[in-house]
Amino acid sequence: MTQDELKKLVAQAAIDYVVPDTIIGVGTGSTANFFIDELAKIKHTIEGTVASSEASAARLKQHGIPVLDLNSVSEISVYIDGADEADPGLHLTKGGGGALTREKIVLAVAKQFVCIADESKKVAHLGKFPLPIEVIPMARSYVAREIVKRFGGEPVLREGFTTDNGNIILDVHGLTITDPVGLETELNQIVGVVTNGLFARRKADIFLCGGKNGVETLLA
Ligand code: A5P
Repeated sequence: MTQDELKKLVAQAAIDYVVPDTIIGVGTGSTANFFIDELAKIKHTIEGTVASSEASAARLKQHGIPVLDLNSVSEISVYIDGADEADPGLHLTKGGGGALTREKIVLAVAKQFVCIADESKKVAHLGKFPLPIEVIPMARSYVAREIVKRFGGEPVLREGFTTDNGNIILDVHGLTITDPVGLETELNQIVGVVTNGLFARRKADIFLCGGKNGVETLLA
């Protein structure tokens, strides 16, 4: 199976976790896009969605799926999204598409997090994929210097990219992530950092992993 076929497979499997008559949190990226296309087939069974990016909101609306403002919503039954890396404890790295901040916000309101990805995202330790950090533009150089000083690694500006919130992304290469929860917390202490791409304090509850033997369900 191709990588896209595996992504479609896990997107289809995620439909089983969609709770009828509730609001669904929808992630961002190529795997989430497959999920949106599957969700369209059962759109009349849900109350609506909250999107984690302008891109996902546009795709949901193209399918005629209601997209709600998070400020008008008090509960999201389930958040369904992809990942860039997942370790055995279901700590994740996310933000390859640059939507990490809104993804974390929507997730914060959700009761359950179902992560969907093909098996290439499964890793023993996080850190091979550069860790995205959303930064207020005027703090770019300061934050980059602080990261090198405190944690090592090589922060690289994502050229020509602005987040939905008007900020920049630093992709940090070469980090050795032995304590994802600690690093997530410590990175947030640098003034100017909006969010980092570690989803460790709030990690996935369920990981639907697509591989050659079909969909494997991993629990945290
Ligand atoms: C978007 O900002 C990311 O967090 C995505 O969830 C992640 O990059 C996975 O994307 P793909 O499904 O395209 O691999």
